[in-house]
Amino acid sequence: MSQPGSEQNPLRVAIVGSGPSGFYATEALFKSGLNVQVDMLERLPAPYGLVRHGVAPDHPKLKEAIPVYDRIARSPGFRFFGNVTVGRDVPVAALAAAYHGVIFACGAESDRRLGVPGEDLPGSYTATEFVGWYNGHPDFRDRVFDLSQEIAVIVGQGNVAADVCRILAKTVDELKHTDIADHALEALAESRVRDIYVVGRRGPAQAKFTAKELRELGELDDAEVVLDPAELELNPESLAEFEERKGAGAKKNVEILREFASRPRTDRSRRIFFRFLLSPVEIRGQGHVQSVVFERNRLTGGPFEQSARGTGEQIEIEAGLVFRSIGYKGTAMAGVPFDARQGVFPTRDGRITDEGGTVVPGLYACGWIRRGPTGIIGTNKPCSVSTVASLLADQGTLDPAPKPGAEGIPALAGLDGRRVVSYDDWLAIDQAEVSRGAAKGKPREKFARVEEMLAILGATKR
Ligand SMILES: Cc1cc2nc3c(=O)[nH]c(=O)nc-3n(C[C@H](O)[C@H](O)[C@H](O)COP(=O)(O)OP(=O)(O)OC[C@H]3O[C@@H](n4cnc5c(N)ncnc54)[C@H](O)[C@@H]3O)c2cc1C
Ligand SMILES: NC(=O)c1ccc[n+]([C@@H]2O[C@H](COP(=O)([O-])OP(=O)(O)OC[C@H]3O[C@@H](n4cnc5c(N)ncnc54)[C@H](OP(=O)(O)O)[C@@H]3O)[C@@H](O)[C@H]2O)c1
Repeated sequence: MSQPGSEQNPLRVAIVGSGPSGFYATEALFKSGLNVQVDMLERLPAPYGLVRHGVAPDHPKLKEAIPVYDRIARSPGFRFFGNVTVGRDVPVAALAAAYHGVIFACGAESDRRLGVPGEDLPGSYTATEFVGWYNGHPDFRDRVFDLSQEIAVIVGQGNVAADVCRILAKTVDELKHTDIADHALEALAESRVRDIYVVGRRGPAQAKFTAKELRELGELDDAEVVLDPAELELNPESLAEFEERKGAGAKKNVEILREFASRPRTDRSRRIFFRFLLSPVEIRGQGHVQSVVFERNRLTGGPFEQSARGTGEQIEIEAGLVFRSIGYKGTAMAGVPFDARQGVFPTRDGRITDEGGTVVPGLYACGWIRRGPTGIIGTNKPCSVSTVASLLADQGTLDPAPKPGAEGIPALAGLDGRRVVSYDDWLAIDQAEVSRGAAKGKPREKFARVEEMLAILGATKR
């Protein structure tokens, strides 16, 4: 029998998830020079993962990854199966039987918990749900955020926190020509949010913003940054970090923060306050968030290993809104080993391993579900390439029998009553979104409900 990848026996690979890591894995497979057939399964009718539903609407340049993925999707040997949830509509065992290899590229869709009292009070939200809501993700279409409040606290100082802060602080004019979902734009137009606290548990030199994203917070039309220079005092370990190359980003951030702190006050309508060395210990309120109690921290540990230690001193910030932006987390999928502590599928060189650390033949992972929820779009490319390298290195040990691919799975053939969305179907949805947007001077107006997308296809099945 000829090896998978030969003329007579195509190497059939299923990729679960259509975000950056799924597309980079597809590209690496097609570049292998083998006879490869890729079927990409995506739980939504729309592809592109967080590039569509995470990247902020006012950052259109970052969506330039999409034409790259579109070119990959038009390669011979590629098929898209949208509106199919693996682990629910298609069991993992069925995929493993129908393909030579399965690559999980399903991202990190949940979020870390703070684990403090009051975390779930009305008015306390995760960044994940807010981001999904303003980006038209169907899971979050009907979320309601109480923007009648005047003071918001954002917990966390990463780029997602910067996105949330910017969207809260921008005017409607700054957002209306972006692809922000209309339902969000309408709600933000009525927002009474005036003061936004962006709070980190460590110091200014440990904030995880990238310089560009931080600088942008000081360039908004009707919001100013308010920063007490005393907040920017640094310990010797942080200063030592600046002396090394890997401390360059932090040094830049502190320079930007210092420049913010030196600015004269203005009469802009909204204010962004940066606070450091504060960990939330309780979210307080009677039936709704009214304040957040923080414990003041000091840093312990050497350069690049500094962590926050509570001092026992508490401060309370009055606020009616809280956004927890402390990182995303992968979720378990039936039939795949899961490391619940890290929120990832455990892997060795991209090969999925079981509890005992033994490789599960034929199962691979890349992107956020492999590495955890960090890294920009481009970070996923080497990750996916290395996973595909492992799969290709295993070629001789994969089941050599020809595999049926999607034709061996009833749900993918549309036989279980589900409307499977092909890539051509997606292109029709895409065109409809672009036309809807053009009428409003927006690059697109997303359909934020699965039913609306399927209706474009004249679909009667869900
Ligand atoms: C809010 C936010 C903003 C960001 N902004 C930027 C930015 O501006 N610039 C930048 O470079 N990086 C940005 N990033 C980082 C970047 O988006 C990630 O590095 C990247 O998207 C991770 O790719 P991924 O393919 O691993 O996961 P994802 O992009 O999350 O893709 C996973 C895909 O899998 C699908 N899926 C999940 N479960 C299943 C299942 N059971 N069956 C089928 N499909 C499934 C999901 O629907 C999704 O489409 C941002 C991240 C976030 C959270
Ligand atoms: N424009 C862009 O390029 C862009 C936009 C958005 C996202 N992204 C990328 O996407 C990835 C994810 O971003 P992210 O902002 O979700 O994650 P992140 O960069 O890891 O930031 C998470 C923040 O939450 C804090 N945190 C974690 N646990 C906490 C706790 N228990 N209590 C208080 N604070 C806590 C972290 O502090 P510690 O540092 O102390 O842990 C950190 O400040 C990043 O790699 C980011 O660069 C990029």
